Amino acid sequence: MAEFIPVPPFDLVVFGATGDLSLRKLFPSLLHRYLDGQIPPQSRIIGAARSDLDTEAFRQMVHESRGKFAPGACVDEAKCAEFMSHVHYARLDASAPANEWGALKQALANGGGNVRIFYLSTAPSLFVTIAQRLAETGLATPDSRIVLEKPIGRDLASSREINDGVGAVFDEHRTFRIDHYLGKETVQNLLVLRFANMLIEPVWSRAYIDHVQITVAEELGVEGRADYYDKSGALRDMVQNHLLQLLCLVALESPNSMEADAIRTEKLKVLSALRRIEAKDAASKTVRGQYRAGLVNGGKAPAYADEVGKVTKTETFVAIKAEVDNWRWAGVPFYLRTGKRMSARRSEIVVQFKDTPVPMFGADAGSPNKLVLRLQPDEGVRLWLNMKEPGPGGLRVKTAALDLSFAEEFGGVRYPDAYERLLMDIVRGNLALFMRRDEVDAAWMWADALLAAWRQAGVEPYGYAAGSNGPTQSALMLDRDGRAWWDPE
Ligand code: BG6
Repeated sequence: MAEFIPVPPFDLVVFGATGDLSLRKLFPSLLHRYLDGQIPPQSRIIGAARSDLDTEAFRQMVHESRGKFAPGACVDEAKCAEFMSHVHYARLDASAPANEWGALKQALANGGGNVRIFYLSTAPSLFVTIAQRLAETGLATPDSRIVLEKPIGRDLASSREINDGVGAVFDEHRTFRIDHYLGKETVQNLLVLRFANMLIEPVWSRAYIDHVQITVAEELGVEGRADYYDKSGALRDMVQNHLLQLLCLVALESPNSMEADAIRTEKLKVLSALRRIEAKDAASKTVRGQYRAGLVNGGKAPAYADEVGKVTKTETFVAIKAEVDNWRWAGVPFYLRTGKRMSARRSEIVVQFKDTPVPMFGADAGSPNKLVLRLQPDEGVRLWLNMKEPGPGGLRVKTAALDLSFAEEFGGVRYPDAYERLLMDIVRGNLALFMRRDEVDAAWMWADALLAAWRQAGVEPYGYAAGSNGPTQSALMLDRDGRAWWDPE
C-alpha cells in the first residue's frame, strides 16, 4: 500500500460550497485525503456560498452528504470529527462589492505560510467577477492559486473572455483548469503504459493501428442540471473537454519529460492537428441524439424533453469520426461517442490493431488485436490476442484477453477519486493534469467549427430509447467504414 506524502499546509476556499459538485466530490475527496494523513493539521477548508448558514450548520451539511458520497469512509469517527474541525463557512454573495467580503477576509485571517487556493465551483459567469473581487480585497496574494471548474465558457469567445479576466489577476502558472478525467487512474496509466513499455510505442501508429474508439457512456440523465445542460449539450459538456483530452493522451508524441508543460505542449499539437469537420461532412462524420423514454437498468426513465419540460434540440448523445492530420495518425479514425441514459455506465478506450497481413489459419483466424483501457466502472487494461485453443484436432484459433484488472492485480487498494489526486496536485503546484489556456482555446476552435457545421447543414438529433446504445445511425456510421463499436455483452 502506497504511503501518502503529506502536502504543505493550505487554506482552500470553495466558492459554491453548498452546490452539488462540492458536496458530492470535493468534500468527500478532502475527507479521504485527510484520513490518509495527507492533509496537515494547520490546513483550513472554507466553504463560501450565499446560503444563510454558519460554520456549525455547514459542517452538518457536509456531515450529512458524507454518508451518501463517502459511505464507509469513517471507520474512525474521532478522526472524521477532527477533519470537520478544519472546515469553516463564510457567507458570501460573490457578486457583491468588495466591502461585503468581510466574512471571507476574517475566515482567512492568520493563515500566514499556508498555500492559498480559491476553488471556483460556481457558474462560469461568476469566474471573472470573483477573480476581480479577490484582487480588490487583497485576498489574492502573489502566490495564491485559482481553480476553474469546467465549462470554461460555451465557445471560444466566451472562454477567452473568462481566461482574459481571470488572467488579469492570476498568471497562467497559478491557474488550474480542471478536467477531472485527467485525474482518473486509467487515464494516467495510459501515459505509463505508452512510455514505460518498449513493447507498445513502436506499434502505436498508423502502420499497425486500424482505428481508435473512445466511449463515455452514462446511465444517468441530466439530474437536476437541465438548465445548464440544455444550453450546453453533449458536445460542449463532454466532448470539448473530457473526450478530447482522452484523445490527446492516446495520440500525443512522447513528451520530453513528465513536466506539465512538456505534456501540455504535446497535447496542444494533437488538438491543432484535429481536422475540422465541415458542413458538407457533418451528417456523415457525426451523429447527434436525444434520449426518449425507455428502461435503464430495469427502471423507467423519462424522455429528455420531459425532464427539461420543453421541446428542445439539444443533443444528449454524440458520435464523431475524428481525424488527426499528422504523420503518426493520418488515415486512422478516432471514433468518439458519449451519451446520457445509455444501456450501462461504461467508459473505455479501444485501440484496434490491423489484421495480420496474410491469413494463415483459414476463415476462423480470430479477431484483430485490441488494447482496451477501461476507465469505469471498474478500471483495468485488457489486451486481446489470438491463441491456439488447447487440445488436439488441428490449429483452432481463439481470441483471449490478457487481463490486467487493477482490482485483482493490485487488490485491496481503494482507488482514489479523480478529485482527490487533482486537489493534492493543486496544493503541490503540479499543473501536469490541468489544461493550459492554449489547449482550451484549440479545443473550442474545433468544437465551434463543428457547432457551426451542424447549424449550416441542419443536423438535428435522432431519437434513441433511454437504456440503448444511442441512435442506430451511430452504428451505421462505423458500418459504412466496415467497422463496429466494441460493445461487449
Ligand atoms: C461532467 C459532466 O464533467 O462529467 C457531466 O458535466 C457528467 O454531465 C460527468 O455526468 C461525468 O463524470 P464521471 O466521472 O461520472 O464519468
